[in-house]
Amino acid sequence: MSFDFDTPIERRGSWSMRWERYPPEVIPLWVADTDFRAPPAVLEAMRERIEHGVFGYSAQPAALREAIAARMQRLYGWRVEPDWIAFLPGVVPGLHLAARHLMRADQHALLPVPLYHHFRQALERSPRAFTEVPLVLADGRWVFDEAALAASVRRETRLLFLCNPQNPGGTIFTRAELERLAAFAAQHDLVICADEIHCELLLDRGKPHVPIASLAPEVSRRTVTLASPSKAFNFPGAGCAWAVIEDAALRRAFMADDHATVHGPSLFGYAATLGAYRDGAQWLAAQLAYLAGNRDLVERFVAATPGLAMAHVEATYLAWIDCSGLAAPDPHKLFLDAGVALSPGAQFGAPRFVRLNFGTQRLRLAQALQRMAKVACP
Ligand SMILES: Cc1ncc(COP(=O)(O)O)c(C=O)c1O
Repeated sequence: MSFDFDTPIERRGSWSMRWERYPPEVIPLWVADTDFRAPPAVLEAMRERIEHGVFGYSAQPAALREAIAARMQRLYGWRVEPDWIAFLPGVVPGLHLAARHLMRADQHALLPVPLYHHFRQALERSPRAFTEVPLVLADGRWVFDEAALAASVRRETRLLFLCNPQNPGGTIFTRAELERLAAFAAQHDLVICADEIHCELLLDRGKPHVPIASLAPEVSRRTVTLASPSKAFNFPGAGCAWAVIEDAALRRAFMADDHATVHGPSLFGYAATLGAYRDGAQWLAAQLAYLAGNRDLVERFVAATPGLAMAHVEATYLAWIDCSGLAAPDPHKLFLDAGVALSPGAQFGAPRFVRLNFGTQRLRLAQALQRMAKVACP
């Protein structure tokens, strides 16, 4: 079966956050959704619900708990009991719940940066004290600075935030890297909050995703794993995510707001997830091949453009581009003025960087790169 990722789909006028923000002449490659229609299996599952026609309050589908547990076992050899799963409307609320409920007000968190901005916001709004610990580039990958992590831990440190695969760096952390991180968490008795939303967007063969909680039972007992199929199958607007939390006390604390300030997924989120998990494999494989082609195009463009640099993107559809070699002090503005809207690096704490979302039709991506080349090397 073949799938079409090349034909553009008009998204303006569809309430798309990405496409509504800028004037029509700008190519928007910022917020992290893709311009691809969701898999036929997802559309079919949603269509069935629409045709049923009654959209009352939903009970959490037992079939989905079973499907998630089965998928974790099959993909990662990770045993998850269905009742370890706590459903959420999105991963972002999970970051906020972790900051508010897994730490006391006088406790402290570690935040490896650059990082998706909602991690930081969760700590700032709670508010909870935190220390940003810069990742370092080693052999072309953004990885933990283990010495800096050790130097940043305090007596009152309680939470370690992890984003794996990493947004914006594109790293898939290896088993050995995660084992050392888990040992560090054990040594200092930290709770790990692992956002693994990008775990099925793997672009290189032979580089598997390892859920940190799958390393060992004692790691699982100190870990909250946040996940959602909404990135890999492109339905973030449908709202469906969850936390996997083995430890019952941790789970109770995390879910203190359940059915109060935090509600469950939407009916369509449940249906979409079940559809994707049941019959979305071929589409996902085709999408990953397409995204890897787009990634290669971006990497070739960056390599050929003086003043730009980037690490190899192992996972996600996001390129973290170092523009510090350009004369322009504000690369986001430089490219926006040239007609390409990227995410400003400042959002992730690195103003000389931009993040480019390459989850779009290849022709449009090529057009955006041409515009960027014109102003990068005028
Ligand atoms: C690392 C990470 N976590 C969470 C989210 C958003 O999750 P949700 O839409 O489920 O709240 C994103 C979206 O870009 C992300 O990159």
